[in-house]
Amino acid sequence: MKRVRKAVIPVAGLGTRFLPATKSMPKEMLTIVDRPVVQYAVDEALEAGIEHIVFVTGRNKSAIEDYFDLQPELNGFLARSGKLEQLNCLQELQLPAGSISFTRQQSPLGLGHAVWCARDMIGDEPFALLLPDMVSFGEKGCLAGIMDFYERTGGNVIAVEQCHPAETNRYGIVGKGKEFGAGFAIDAMVEKPAPTEAPSNYYINGRYLLQPEVFAILGRQEPGAGSEIQLTDAMLRLLAEQPFFAVPFEGRMYDCGSKEGFVQANVAFALARNDVRDHVFDPIAAMMSSLEQRVAAE
Ligand code: UTP
Repeated sequence: MKRVRKAVIPVAGLGTRFLPATKSMPKEMLTIVDRPVVQYAVDEALEAGIEHIVFVTGRNKSAIEDYFDLQPELNGFLARSGKLEQLNCLQELQLPAGSISFTRQQSPLGLGHAVWCARDMIGDEPFALLLPDMVSFGEKGCLAGIMDFYERTGGNVIAVEQCHPAETNRYGIVGKGKEFGAGFAIDAMVEKPAPTEAPSNYYINGRYLLQPEVFAILGRQEPGAGSEIQLTDAMLRLLAEQPFFAVPFEGRMYDCGSKEGFVQANVAFALARNDVRDHVFDPIAAMMSSLEQRVAAE
């Protein structure tokens, strides 16, 4: 079984659900507390043992490349002015030279097309795929769970969560086959099915471990739902030739491509941070209680 060394992080989407903010700023650079959304995906990949990350970028996304570059002037300024805590933070997050690559998706033709754009950089190896606007919150990162599972099963492994049965039309949904340890074999996949046609309520939550044969299928460039080249369609074809497994994620994934998910993630991560929690939530609690008293008095 080949080891998984590389991850693809696609960041070329237009982020239309988050306009107007995303008119001039990549949604992957919106911050959760003090870190851009994309940093959480990189941390999760490194935690899972990934050694090389391929970003698929597009126009108006140069802020992402700049963010991952070394900034000697800024580091020098922080050192000279004694801002050592901030300097340490930047140094800890700095990825080693040569451990990240960027390729370009010239038009946002869909997630499947974005993944296909990374084919030459991945080569003939299994790879991880992380959708960065899905931010993982939990004891252990979602990708690390997938990697553990893969060591026992091989094949293709996808993380899933359960949605409300009436909301299957918002997600890529998998069908549940035979149980395998903490997960199960996948026997069907559909992109955004109507609740009456969904094979289950297990949705793909944005973390994948895929075999490289998916690139040849994506290379056929056949558009699917929404006229986009859909990854789910290519995986469905690959399912006829290779095993696919689903692993339910035990933490929580926040959809930071949506306004509600992004605000929820900010609250959850702020509550989990000792340096932020009390400074944020004590004043909010005081404000809420004075508001309640005023409403009660009226
Ligand atoms: P989304 O569908 O959430 O991103 O894709 P989007 O298209 O930017 O969002 P909306 O619906 O318009 O708000 C999940 C991930 O795949 C990337 C996105 O950047 C995001 O990280 N993506 C999507 C691409 O890189 N290229 C695409 O053509 C589509």
